Amino acid sequence: MQPIDGHTKLLGLFGDPVEHSFSPQLHNYISEVYGLNYAYGALHVKPKNLEAAVRGIVALGYAGVNVTAPHKIAVMQYLDCISEDAKKYGSVNTIKNVDGKLYGYSTDADGFYLSLLEGGAEVIGKDVLIFGAGGATRPVCVKFAMLGAKSITIINRTQEKADALAAFVKDACAYEVLTKREHSRYDLVINTTTVGMSPNVDACPINDFSFVDANTAAADMIYNPAETVFLRKMKENGAKVCINGLGMLIFQGIVAYEIFTDTKIDRSIYKDIKREVFGL
Ligand code: ATR
Repeated sequence: MQPIDGHTKLLGLFGDPVEHSFSPQLHNYISEVYGLNYAYGALHVKPKNLEAAVRGIVALGYAGVNVTAPHKIAVMQYLDCISEDAKKYGSVNTIKNVDGKLYGYSTDADGFYLSLLEGGAEVIGKDVLIFGAGGATRPVCVKFAMLGAKSITIINRTQEKADALAAFVKDACAYEVLTKREHSRYDLVINTTTVGMSPNVDACPINDFSFVDANTAAADMIYNPAETVFLRKMKENGAKVCINGLGMLIFQGIVAYEIFTDTKIDRSIYKDIKREVFGL
């Protein structure tokens, strides 16, 4: 780690909780590799203190902050300007302080898409099946619609939430999302539910894998465990490309870092971050 001095620009993460986050290690590692004088810390912000914390970005001269659960939607009302993409996603995870004005961005969906490309999967022109309709699903779904997925189908335990997400995507980008399985096979199948996440590692969101073949790619937003039961079963049923959630975590951070520092970060740093930060 390079020395922190009087010139160090500050970055941070607002969340509740934040102790589990890998963002400090990830961002500080990039600063070290690129020799940039930034320091990134985790800042535990309770919902009742969110507005004061956002005002604090300007008051304390922070260069920027990332925002994680449960603040990604609530924080939008306190910002001066929100990017067109973040407006469409209805979510902000990156705030940049430019001369006292706060700009909001969302890098989650870009990060997820980059992780799919890195893992050998594509979205454009593909039939995509998504399990789950929670907070993490919305930006991804809108991004896929904007990219030009051939079809997007959302399956969720609570049907109303799938329908509400479909309505949101239609409103944001005039794209018709399906909320029932209508195809016999899919090119890309994604788990965005929390089912199978540590400590409930034996759980799986589905037990019917009939829509999988050798050309189906599988992705899970979960990174702990590295291989969920969902991914293992997708592989056993023929999927050759299986991508876990670590890439999303890393790439959303890389894109956020680029926004904070106006520096182009070589995508190849992904493998170095995996090794140096996650020991993989
Ligand atoms: P959010 O991301 O909005 O905070 P969440 O509570 O973390 O939402 O849940 C994320 C997704 O996992 C949701 O789609 C949720 O399904 P519901 O909308 O029906 O709640 C899904 N999920 C969580 N636990 C589940 C379970 N045991 N079985 C099936 N789906 C589940």
